[in-house]
Amino acid sequence: MTRTHLMIHSSPPCHRLVLLLVLLLHPCHRKLAEAATTGGQWALLQSSIGIASMHMQLLNNDKVVIYDRTDFGPSNISLASGKCRYDPQEQVLKVDCTAHSVEYDVATNSFRPLTVLTDVWCSSGSLMPDGTFVQTGGFNDGDHVVRLYKPCSSGSNCDWQEINNGLIQRRWYATNHILPDSSQIIIGGRRQFNYEFYPKTAATNQVFNLRFLVQTNDPVVENNLYPFVFLNVDGNLFIFANNRAILLNYKKNIVVKNYPQLPDGNPRCYPSTGSAVLLPLRNLQGPAIQAEVLVCGGAPKGAYASAQKGDFMGALNTCGRISINDPNPQWVMETMPLARVMGDMLLLPNGHVLMINGASAGTAGWEYGRNPVLSPVIYQPNKTIGSRFEVQNPSTIPRMYHSSAILLRDGRVLVGGSNPHMLYNFTGVLYPTELSLEAFSPSYLDPGVAGLRPRIISPASQSQIGYGQQLVIRFSVSGQLKGNLVTVTMAAPSFNTHSFSMNQRLLVLGGDNVKIAGNSTYQTAVLTPSTSSLAPPGFYLLFVVVHQDIPSQGIWVHLQ
Ligand SMILES: *[C@@H]1O[C@H](CO)[C@@H](O)[C@H](O)[C@H]1NC(C)=O
Ligand SMILES: *[C@@H]1O[C@H](CO)[C@@H](O)[C@H](O)[C@H]1NC(C)=O
Ligand SMILES: *[C@@H]1O[C@H](CO)[C@@H](O)[C@H](O)[C@H]1NC(C)=O
Ligand SMILES: *[C@@H]1O[C@H](CO)[C@@H](O)[C@H](O)[C@H]1NC(C)=O
Repeated sequence: MTRTHLMIHSSPPCHRLVLLLVLLLHPCHRKLAEAATTGGQWALLQSSIGIASMHMQLLNNDKVVIYDRTDFGPSNISLASGKCRYDPQEQVLKVDCTAHSVEYDVATNSFRPLTVLTDVWCSSGSLMPDGTFVQTGGFNDGDHVVRLYKPCSSGSNCDWQEINNGLIQRRWYATNHILPDSSQIIIGGRRQFNYEFYPKTAATNQVFNLRFLVQTNDPVVENNLYPFVFLNVDGNLFIFANNRAILLNYKKNIVVKNYPQLPDGNPRCYPSTGSAVLLPLRNLQGPAIQAEVLVCGGAPKGAYASAQKGDFMGALNTCGRISINDPNPQWVMETMPLARVMGDMLLLPNGHVLMINGASAGTAGWEYGRNPVLSPVIYQPNKTIGSRFEVQNPSTIPRMYHSSAILLRDGRVLVGGSNPHMLYNFTGVLYPTELSLEAFSPSYLDPGVAGLRPRIISPASQSQIGYGQQLVIRFSVSGQLKGNLVTVTMAAPSFNTHSFSMNQRLLVLGGDNVKIAGNSTYQTAVLTPSTSSLAPPGFYLLFVVVHQDIPSQGIWVHLQ
């Protein structure tokens, strides 16, 4: 249907048909669908928020915590009320009166400085079930620190709380994931072939070795940092590093499954940075829930060493898709229309995968990326192989190393950052340090389909929901609705940095048995996820999706 939106602009007769919702039957549909190859719109939200958005997390009050590093000198935004940070450990500026973190308010498109005291560079994080953002590790004096950021109401100026020595090991380039028991796991990091938990209990107050991280560690360039971690529906963790994956029972520290290497053997993790998603989880009430992982892009073997010598190898243009609970899982390879390294993969409310940001040559690392990929690509997981990718309209701003992207409640994607330099460099460089924020609006937000967008009437945003319960959702949509074209989805707000979105997860709850509840008002009843392995406790964005791919604005639901 993405293509259908495009045709709205190009064809007035079809436009009217779309509004009558009989488009699927009309012959003009197919013809125009073939012609359209682009979609989506870009908007510049802020030309500068004062910092480069290296890390981003959406909170359940629709504010976004953004942070960079502390160790490059002054940023372009001052700390609040003349505050300064005195840090004898800092490498560039020991008295620093600038901020390295901001809070961005989506509703008002405004931002304010936050105070991080220790270095958060290349760190990891996850929301906790109560909505508190937990950030872990970083560099230098920040590498053992845990920092908490609790969402606060507007007007109250909440800020970071730091817990020194919150971690047992140094964590730099680690990956976190929220767990069914409400704690989070912190896996790996540079020269850390192990994992630990936060918060810790008597049983988990230790470090657990993970040989897989030794086995996948390229002795020269690593290629297994920021591993791609997903909570499987069986409660085990799928961990992909370098060019292969395991299924880990983290409680017993046992590898329960080894997956084959990607057929081409090329690395996909930092600094050969590709990206990955757990594809939308469907049929949650079925006897065996299918879970599939899609890994895309990255840099070929040897690309990092080549980049160090000034030779920027072309990025990978392939994706591998694997059904992780099959008895004999195998990678199925697909070819992307655009090669991409340092791209981000985001799950959209309608279950499509957005690939955005990054470059078409080189690798991650200071000055090692070339040829920005300005056009996002949408991947539709349930189309037939060969017809899943669709190139979108380009941005004008390169988003190279240290850029980021997250899904917002209204269905837009917030894009920021890019700083491939050790310091902030605005002139005399190929890809200047980028302090701007943009939004990419997928074609489901086109004004031409505004009349097709559903609106959730109830439950109210911030509602509590339980496990395995029937949830009645009322929504309105103008025009006639075909019942079998409604789905209800639930997205976990993920933490994004270095091309990976930690905790990213989309649950398709169903949406059959749509009833007419009034004038342009409908209701559907869905079952909430039955277990915390399917959906760990916490805040989720719930969407109603009509006509296959047009989502409502999300509402926040608190699953407990
Ligand atoms: C950031 O500040 C520096 C120094 O004041 C200035 O040269 C530069 O133009 C600023 N950059 C942006 C994007 O505001
Ligand atoms: C793709 O997803 C849509 C929307 O959920 C669904 O109606 C359709 O049956 C799916 N197609 C396949 C081939 O799974
Ligand atoms: C960035 O700026 C710093 C300080 O102005 C300078 O020393 C450095 O060479 C610049 N980096 C690049 C890649 O030009
Ligand atoms: C439905 O609402 C529209 C506009 O709000 C109104 O014109 C119409 O009469 C209503 N129809 C019914 C059956 O109530």
